[in-house]
Amino acid sequence: MQVAGARVLVTGGASGLGRGTVDRLVAGGARVGILDLESSAGADVAKEIDGVFAAADVRKPDEVAAAVAQIGGALGGLDVCVNAAGVADAHRVINRSGELFPLDLFEFVVRVNLIGTFDVLRNAAKVMADNEPDGEGGRGLIVNVASIAATEGQIGQAAYSASKGGVAAMTLPLARDLASIGVRVMAISPGIMDTPMIDGMGPELKAELAKIHVFPQRLGTPDDFAALVQHFMENTLLNGEVVRLDAGARMGPR
Ligand SMILES: NC(=O)c1ccc[n+]([C@@H]2O[C@H](COP(=O)([O-])OP(=O)(O)OC[C@H]3O[C@@H](n4cnc5c(N)ncnc54)[C@H](O)[C@@H]3O)[C@@H](O)[C@H]2O)c1
Repeated sequence: MQVAGARVLVTGGASGLGRGTVDRLVAGGARVGILDLESSAGADVAKEIDGVFAAADVRKPDEVAAAVAQIGGALGGLDVCVNAAGVADAHRVINRSGELFPLDLFEFVVRVNLIGTFDVLRNAAKVMADNEPDGEGGRGLIVNVASIAATEGQIGQAAYSASKGGVAAMTLPLARDLASIGVRVMAISPGIMDTPMIDGMGPELKAELAKIHVFPQRLGTPDDFAALVQHFMENTLLNGEVVRLDAGARMGPR
C-alpha cells in the first residue's frame, strides 16, 4: 500500500504521535481525517492540512460510530486507521496518604486506551470491508498504539499498563480475525516520545528520561513513529505483530 492517495483516519491526530502521523502522511500525498476530542486542536489541524475533522470521545460508542462514518464518507472510504488517542493517568495502588487507586480513574484509562481503540477499529474495519481488494486481497491496515509500559510498567502505571497490555495482546487475534476481509493489524510500543503527553515533566526530567533509551540516547519524535506507520503501509508482510520503537530501552520500576 502506497502513502500517496491513501485514505487515512488518525485518532488523537490533533497532538503528538497522531499529529506527526498526519503531517508525514499528508506530505506523502495521503488524505487524512482526524478523530479527536471537540476540545482538541483537531479542527485547526484539519484546516491546515485540508483534511477532515470529526469530534468524538473514543469512550462514547455513538460518537465513534458517527465520526468514523463521517470521515469514511468524506474520504470516500478508508485504507488505514491509526489509533493514537490515549491518556496516561497514573496513581499508586495505595498512595502516601493511604488513598486507594480510584476505580473510576482505572476504568477511565482502560476505556480510552483499550476499549476506545477497539471501538474505533471495529467501525473502521467495517468501512474497509467495502474496499476493492488489491492484488494480494488486501483491503486495509490498522495500527494501534501500545507502549513499552505494556511489558515494563512503572510504579503508578497499573491502569496504563493494563490498557496497553490489552492493546498489545489483541494484536494477533485481531489480525487473525480480520484476515477474512484482508485487513492487517499492527501495534507500535513506543519508548519515551517527545509529545505534549510528557510536556508536564519539564526539560530536566525529559533529559533524564531520554537516558532510558540505550542508543541513540534521545527522546523519540512523532516523525520516528510516523515513519514506522508508513513502513507498515508499504510492507504488506507485516501483520499481527507489536513492534517496539524505543532505542533498546527497558524501563525499571520508577
Ligand atoms: N509520549 C510518549 O512517551 C508515549 C509513549 C508510549 C505510548 N504513547 C501512547 O501514544 C499515544 C499518543 O500519545 P501522545 O504522546 O501523542 O499524547 P498526546 O497527549 O500528545 O496526544 C493524545 C491525543 O489523544 C486525544 N485524546 C485523549 N483522550 C481522548 C478521547 N477520550 N477521545 C478522543 N481523543 C482523545 C487527545 O486530545 C490528544 O490529541 C497514546 O496512546 C499514548 O499512550 C505515548
